Amino acid sequence: MEFSFYSPVKVIFGQPAAAALRAALTERARSASPLPAASRILLISDPGLAAVGLVDQITGSLTAAGFQVSVFAQVRGNPTVRDVEAALAVALAADAQALVALGGGSVIDVGKAVGLLLTHGGRYADFQWGDRPITQAAQHIPLIAVPTTAGTGSEVTQVTVIEDDETHSKRGVRSPYLFARAAVLDPALTLSLPAHLTAATGVDVVGHALEAFVGRRANPITDALALDALRRAWRNLPCATRQGNDLRAREEMLAASVMAGLAFDQSGLGIIHSLAGPIAGRYALHHGLCVGLLLAAGLEYNLPALGAKREPLLEALGMPASIRDAEVAERVNVWLADLNLPTRLSQLNIHNPDLTSMAQEAARMVLLPNNPRPATADDCRQILEGVA
Ligand SMILES: [Fe+2]
Repeated sequence: MEFSFYSPVKVIFGQPAAAALRAALTERARSASPLPAASRILLISDPGLAAVGLVDQITGSLTAAGFQVSVFAQVRGNPTVRDVEAALAVALAADAQALVALGGGSVIDVGKAVGLLLTHGGRYADFQWGDRPITQAAQHIPLIAVPTTAGTGSEVTQVTVIEDDETHSKRGVRSPYLFARAAVLDPALTLSLPAHLTAATGVDVVGHALEAFVGRRANPITDALALDALRRAWRNLPCATRQGNDLRAREEMLAASVMAGLAFDQSGLGIIHSLAGPIAGRYALHHGLCVGLLLAAGLEYNLPALGAKREPLLEALGMPASIRDAEVAERVNVWLADLNLPTRLSQLNIHNPDLTSMAQEAARMVLLPNNPRPATADDCRQILEGVA
């Protein structure tokens, strides 16, 4: 057995976000050369969070504590390089010394990309397509991530996924220098997330945990994190979705999302995410929705290849070891339908999709070789046929 596990992100869970954020921004690194405290902050967020007053609330709290706060609250879902450049312009104009990303995965990913360009200069495309190396930056621009969904786990991962404006293609940029400095996890921030977004983001957590647990690069640490995250998300997502104000269920989902994020950042993902990417890109769908769509079929495909991991995985899903593979998929689809999540493309009004080209795209995804069961483009097509 040989593995490494690296996560430099300080996770601050359960404290009110504003107070935890102030503390995270003033905390100095306990190193030989302490980092200067940042006083000029750029807060990155999205229009929805601005509309409900959360952006003003956090900005007000930081301003009252003596920080100079600039705001960019225009990040869109499935963000593109244009979002990154617009946020970067505000950061440069404000001479920002630290970044706060308040939002879901889209906002946090833009925060990482802005931090990269502030410390390295140049264009985002240089890193995304030109393979320009990311190095230890001389000037530290810490990023504090404050997730408002229990979903992507981006607050603890070293990857950012941004779309190209012209080609609409996405390619993750990954580096240990993209980690946030701290993740402020306040379950109260997720209380007002509507049911459909709670379900769509929450099922992404289940997808991360499942794929991290069975991935080829999994190790004992990611196994422990992924399995516990899977158990928590599977048990609590129905309650978090139906009774959005249940703080206990929201806590469980946020804990599950951060644990699944820590796990998949190191162990990788697999066929569910490889197939979800092309579908989400082609039809501009929510990432989590596509993960849910493929959850049962992807799991059923992998079950014969799981060996000793089959039983603990089924146990986390509350299913007996004696269950048939097809019945596992049926139960997963019942669980998804209870959450009002689609299990067929036709339920999203997508008819006669070009399955072959999506399957070919999925087969080229860098995530796919990590899947426990090898899959060709034909295998991918067959799985897609099952959810068409
Ligand atoms: Fe995901």
